[in-house]
Amino acid sequence: MHTVTANGATIPALGFGTFRMSGPDVLRMVPHILRLGYRHIDTAQIYGNEAEVGEGIAASGVSRADIFLTTKVWVENYRHDAFLHSVDESLRKLRTDYVDLLLLHWPNKAVPLAEQVAALNTVRAAGKVRHIGVSNFSTALMAEAIRLSDAPIVTNQIEYHPYLNQDVLLDAARGAGLSVTAYYAMADGKVFANPMLTEIASRHGRSVAQVVLRWIVQQGGLIALSKTVGEARAVDNLEIFDFTLPADDMAAIHALARPDARIVNPAGLAPAWD
Ligand SMILES: NC(=O)c1ccc[n+]([C@@H]2O[C@H](COP(=O)([O-])OP(=O)(O)OC[C@H]3O[C@@H](n4cnc5c(N)ncnc54)[C@H](OP(=O)(O)O)[C@@H]3O)[C@@H](O)[C@H]2O)c1
Repeated sequence: MHTVTANGATIPALGFGTFRMSGPDVLRMVPHILRLGYRHIDTAQIYGNEAEVGEGIAASGVSRADIFLTTKVWVENYRHDAFLHSVDESLRKLRTDYVDLLLLHWPNKAVPLAEQVAALNTVRAAGKVRHIGVSNFSTALMAEAIRLSDAPIVTNQIEYHPYLNQDVLLDAARGAGLSVTAYYAMADGKVFANPMLTEIASRHGRSVAQVVLRWIVQQGGLIALSKTVGEARAVDNLEIFDFTLPADDMAAIHALARPDARIVNPAGLAPAWD
């Protein structure tokens, strides 16, 4: 598995996402994907499946030490004591004494960012978390989190796919040494109907999913997340490190970006985007 290095963290460039996955699907898929060779799993407190992720890892036979495991603290747990308690609860459910990466899931103005970042640093200093990061942060919030943190912020996990231009955030993250972790790479399924992506895929003898995931990881400093409940699709999505997209295909995929392409924009959580 290829890795991305960012502010001291070494992160497998492809992560298996578990959003909108039921407990039974997680129990079925997590051992499967680990045996296939995935080494990065992304979950969150709000997904309600940390216990099944932990059980799936235990059942896989793959050593915990060989897995990069990410979870995210939900916004209602950002007050200091609740934050620490929620992380202990996550570790208990995940059946581990540390996670590799802990993220603030969304901004939450109701709690000072300084308090949120201090809690991230507290659990990191306690050894419960190897690395810390943010998710769904604008460049302004990302800069503020970096300024407030003793330990380096290693990633900003954001929506990113061919229809959504994220150049401003990507440049800011790179400039500060952060990786960017891309979610919704398939634009929640919208990429599959795109004729140009289908043409590129068929020319390379690849699937559209592989082309899109490859387009992300080939940019450098980016990690792609991909979720599927299909065993064969999980095989497909892993096979993105044995081919290269030529520069003109990379540019053509970038050119699919259009205004108003953001899919995940929940009122009350979303910041003022860049
Ligand atoms: N930080 C955040 O706020 C946030 C928000 C959203 C997501 N995430 C993370 O990012 C992960 C990825 O997002 P996502 O998977 O929901 O969205 P996505 O990457 O856009 O995928 C959308 C759908 O594509 C299908 N798919 C996957 N591989 C395929 C393939 N090879 N061929 C055809 N269809 C395929 C999957 O459906 P099937 O399961 O039916 O195959 C999946 O539900 C999540 O699981 C989560 O870990 C984070």
